[in-house]
Amino acid sequence: MKGLVCAGGEATRLGELTRVTNKHLLPVGSWPMVYYPLQLLQLAGIREVLLVTGKGHAGQMIDLLGDGHLTVRGGEAPLLELDLTYKVQTQPGGIAEVVGMAEDFAGGEPIVVVLGDNIFEYSHAAAIAAWGDGGVGAQVFVKDVPDPENFGVVVYDDAGNVTDLSEKAGVVDLRYPAPPSNDAVVGLYCYPTDVFSVISSLERSSRGELEITDVNRAYAERGELSVVPVVGWWEDAGKHWQHLAEIGRMIDETGVNK
Ligand code: DAU
Repeated sequence: MKGLVCAGGEATRLGELTRVTNKHLLPVGSWPMVYYPLQLLQLAGIREVLLVTGKGHAGQMIDLLGDGHLTVRGGEAPLLELDLTYKVQTQPGGIAEVVGMAEDFAGGEPIVVVLGDNIFEYSHAAAIAAWGDGGVGAQVFVKDVPDPENFGVVVYDDAGNVTDLSEKAGVVDLRYPAPPSNDAVVGLYCYPTDVFSVISSLERSSRGELEITDVNRAYAERGELSVVPVVGWWEDAGKHWQHLAEIGRMIDETGVNK
C-alpha cells in the first residue's frame, strides 16, 4: 500500500492565519497539523507517501518535512520515518483531482488517502490493514455529526444498505435539498488500483471540483464500498481558527492516533 496526504486547497475559512502560510502548517497542539495524517499513515505500516500541496507554500512544506525522516526537535527520537514525495496542485480542483495526481506514484498498488486537515483519536491501523489484506473495492470511514451539511454523507435504505452518497447536500449536491443522513464520510479513504479509471470518468461538480464523494458513489453503485464507523473522536481542523486550539486541548487530554 502507498499513502497520499491531500494538503492543497485555499483555506479561506481560516482568514488571517493563512495569508502567508499553508493551513496544514498551523499548530494543532504541539505539532504542525500535517504531522497527524502523516503519522496515521506511518502507523498503518505505510512508508511511501505522496504529499500534494498548493503552489504558494510548497517550499515551506519541504523545509519542514524534508525527505520524511524527522527526529524530535533537539533530540534523537524518531518522529516520522517516511519516504516522502511531493507534488504541486496549482488550482484547488478537488480532492478527487488530487487522488488522480497520484496515479504514477501508486505504481499499481492500492492507496490510502488522508486529508491533511483531518485528525483522529485512533489511527484505525487494524481496519486499514484488514482492507489491505484482501478487502474488495473501496473503504471509507463515517462519523455521526450534528452538522451534516458541511460534509459528504452516506445514504442508507431501511435495511442499512448504502444506496447513495451526497456531498454538502443543497449546496454542492443539488439532488437533495438537505442532508439525507448524519453519517459524515471522514477524510480517510482506502482505494484499490482501479480508482484512477473511476476518477478519469468523473465530471466536475456544481462548484467546479472533482468530488471524492462521486468516487465513493461509483464504488457504492457496484456494491464495492465498505463503510466503517470511526472509533473515538475525529475532527476536521480546517473549519475555524478557534477549532485549532480546541483540538490541541483534546489531543492533550486523550492522545491522538492511538
Ligand atoms: O473532512 C471531511 C470532508 O472533507 C468530507 O466529508 C467531504 O466529503 C470532503 O469533500 C471534504 O470536505 P471539505 O469541505 O472539508 O474539504 P476541504 O475543501 O476543506 O478540503 C479538505 C482537505 O483536502 C484539505 O486539507 C485540503 C485538501 N484539498 C482540498 C481541495 C478542494 C486539496 O488538497 N486539494 C483540493 O483541491
